[in-house]
Amino acid sequence: MRKNIVAGNWKMNKSFDEADDLVNGIMELLEKKELGKNTLMILCPPFPYLEMVSDYSNDSYFMVGAQNVNDNEKGAYTGEVSAEMLSSMDIEYCIVGHSERRAYYGETDAMIAKKVDQLLKHEIRPIVCCGEVLEEREAGKQFDVVKRQITDGLFHLSAEQFKELVIAYEPVWAIGTGKTATPEQAQEIHAFIRKTIADKYGKEVADEISILYGGSCKPSNAKELFANPDVDGGLIGGAALQAEDFVNIALAF
Ligand code: 13P
Repeated sequence: MRKNIVAGNWKMNKSFDEADDLVNGIMELLEKKELGKNTLMILCPPFPYLEMVSDYSNDSYFMVGAQNVNDNEKGAYTGEVSAEMLSSMDIEYCIVGHSERRAYYGETDAMIAKKVDQLLKHEIRPIVCCGEVLEEREAGKQFDVVKRQITDGLFHLSAEQFKELVIAYEPVWAIGTGKTATPEQAQEIHAFIRKTIADKYGKEVADEISILYGGSCKPSNAKELFANPDVDGGLIGGAALQAEDFVNIALAF
């Protein structure tokens, strides 16, 4: 049975002390209320806080992910972080191909494919983001866009490798805008993503993959989004910066 996942993408937010407070706040709440048996929580802090958050994760209920990784193995890439480094710190997950990285840092599907390869080589599970911008949605092109991102970024993988992935569908028009996809819109495209995977790798593989929704997900809309058969959780931005909101989203299953 595929997992329900709630992952918090903190993006470039919080000082070290604020980040420490956030993890403590989340842990305090999780001591009072248990997550569902099949629910996995993942915290994705900025690189400098990975170790601090990882240290807490040892005796607690969440796993830790990075927000990005370099597509090369190692070497003269000033300021970059490799999959090998993350793996040596026991980081279990890493977000790849977020729309902010595609838009502001020119990440292409080909680059994302290389990042995914690096992560899998070092036994880190990629959380691969896809999703259309507003003009594409308005032109009815969301299916083509998402299919291209998945095909060009991921379809070089073997079925065994593909099973390690988590997919996050994040419509760019819903990220940080307060505009959420309706539960019907989310289900429609999540089902399409699963079918695209099934056509390539078979139904068994497609049924094992958790497909998360991201874009203005909050406690007030999480329940109806997660109630859909192909929505297996959320990749949460703004609402992940607040312990109570984030835990309430994780309790929405
Ligand atoms: P918001 O939840 O702030 O819309 O961000 C979503 C996101 O980009 C998560 O990766």
